[in-house]
Amino acid sequence: MRLEGDRLKDIIGLIEPIKDPEIGISIVKLRMVESIEEEDGKIKVNVKLTVPGCPLSSTIEKDVKKALKEKGYNDVEVNFGFMSKKELEDIKEVVRKEQIQMPQSIERYEKKSIRRIIAVYSAKGGVGKSTIVKLLAETANSMNYKTGILDCDISGPSITSLFNLKERAYADEDGKITPIIKEGIKIMAVDMLTDVEAIIWRGPLVSSAIKQMYNDTNWGNLDILFLDLPPGTSDAPITVFQSIPVDATVVVTTPQELSNLIGKKTIVVAKSLNIPVIGVIENMSYFVCKHCGGKNEIGNKNTKLDLPILAKLPFFNDLNAEKEESINQLKIAVGKIVNG
Ligand SMILES: Nc1ncnc2c1ncn2[C@@H]1O[C@H](COP(=O)(O)OP(=O)(O)O)[C@@H](O)[C@H]1O
Ligand SMILES: [Mg+2]
Repeated sequence: MRLEGDRLKDIIGLIEPIKDPEIGISIVKLRMVESIEEEDGKIKVNVKLTVPGCPLSSTIEKDVKKALKEKGYNDVEVNFGFMSKKELEDIKEVVRKEQIQMPQSIERYEKKSIRRIIAVYSAKGGVGKSTIVKLLAETANSMNYKTGILDCDISGPSITSLFNLKERAYADEDGKITPIIKEGIKIMAVDMLTDVEAIIWRGPLVSSAIKQMYNDTNWGNLDILFLDLPPGTSDAPITVFQSIPVDATVVVTTPQELSNLIGKKTIVVAKSLNIPVIGVIENMSYFVCKHCGGKNEIGNKNTKLDLPILAKLPFFNDLNAEKEESINQLKIAVGKIVNG
């Protein structure tokens, strides 16, 4: 039951002093407390975050539980949702009134004229994310979808070399960058802009580079933009999810990875970001015997997954020569990715 009246006031009063750890203003003032319910003695506090999957939500949860426990509310549950664009605009207004500098992560960029933004993610490097981004983009393009790729792996970009792309991209007078078109795909990557090897990227620089590349590129109309994410659970992939309006994630794993901890971590992180996970692409899943043409499965196939498998790709001896054989699977995967 939704609380009202004095009891609501009482609880709101206890929560009032709790500040959003990032913005430094009371979560009540920021209208982040959506509602408070009581059910069989349990108090449920429903909080709206400024960004989906905000890594600071656990701090808010801890603070709310602590404040209520001190006044004898022992059974407390904190649920999180996130704010709509309109609500975000409203809180920006509150922040402006308080004359506090807006923290960067509240800036969520516009969707522009891009229909679907899909992040391709894994917690581990070397499982084939970039390879798969290329295959998915080529497939989408062959299906007549207007396709783009943003290489978000600032410290280890690989899209330009996968596409054998030598051209540089430049900003025009308005600071907008025109992406390079290769095989009909609009591509933007940090090594098209600078001599990356000369720069050692620090965390904050990585985040701002990703945001800028997304926001300052003239993508035009796109049906689908694939984001090649850096591996890991660090700032960089989190930045992508917080500032770029990602519609959904595709997870890449190998059978070996799936059975171990990091493979599971990939799935947990992807799910905790509050962005739909469309499914998993299992890479290097089997190899085809050169002599008899038989299919040999690789790794332990007993790992249960509660996500759909979008495609199972073989270990390619020669990607360009062999990718045709996987084209049907890739087309089905792209169909699901484009249509959500
Ligand atoms: N299905 C595959 N068969 C054979 N080699 C692959 C396959 N997928 C990726 N690779 C190779 O594995 C290495 C890592 O792939 P990459 O796409 O760069 O991974 P990530 O982006 O996850 O770090 C590259 O050398 C790539 O050519
Ligand atoms: Mg990569």
